[in-house]
Amino acid sequence: MYSDIQEVLYSEEQIQGKIKELGEKLSIDYEGKNPLVICVLKGAFIFMADLVKQIRVPLELDFMAVSSYGQSTRSSGVVKIIKDLDVPVEGRHILIVEDIIDSGLTLSYLIDVLERRNAKTISVVALFNKPARRTVELEPEYAGYVLPDEFVVGYGLDYAEKYRNLPFIGILKPEIYSS
Ligand code: XMP
Ligand code: MG
Repeated sequence: MYSDIQEVLYSEEQIQGKIKELGEKLSIDYEGKNPLVICVLKGAFIFMADLVKQIRVPLELDFMAVSSYGQSTRSSGVVKIIKDLDVPVEGRHILIVEDIIDSGLTLSYLIDVLERRNAKTISVVALFNKPARRTVELEPEYAGYVLPDEFVVGYGLDYAEKYRNLPFIGILKPEIYSS
């Protein structure tokens, strides 16, 4: 598994440091708001778990699963809700936790859905951001690292469902997915 990685971009320690910073900001901004924090499955599950431990205000959690990529490394532009939220979002302060923003299609679709359900506010925290590949205008309110235009895996992110359990984020050797 480790031998499929060409380069480690950010180590476990670096990622934890960044999450602590994000948590400090979010703790201030969401004081008294009882936000509904939504994890976008599956990629964001590790980030979600680490992040909420650093948000030191009362909050509630929910999970949503969407598909946009399948087995490919490019967004199809087609977003499908695989698992919807368990609770209503009407009148709530929503914080969407996303692993990575690439084209922006997945998130703009999700934001649209939540707006139509009358959320009070909607903000996005994304650990990784590839602004170079955006096809829709979308900037997360809270962002961790800007990444180069490379397919990355680890820390929740997969290629064909593998590598999610790597504790760091890294670039996969091109021969792994080009074959
Ligand atoms: P869009 O293009 O809709 O994509 O912003 C967001 C979703 O695509 C996945 N994604 C990746 N997954 N390595 C991955 O393992 C990547 O480099 C990558 N880029 C995008 C991710 O699931 C995200 O939610
Ligand atoms: Mg994925």
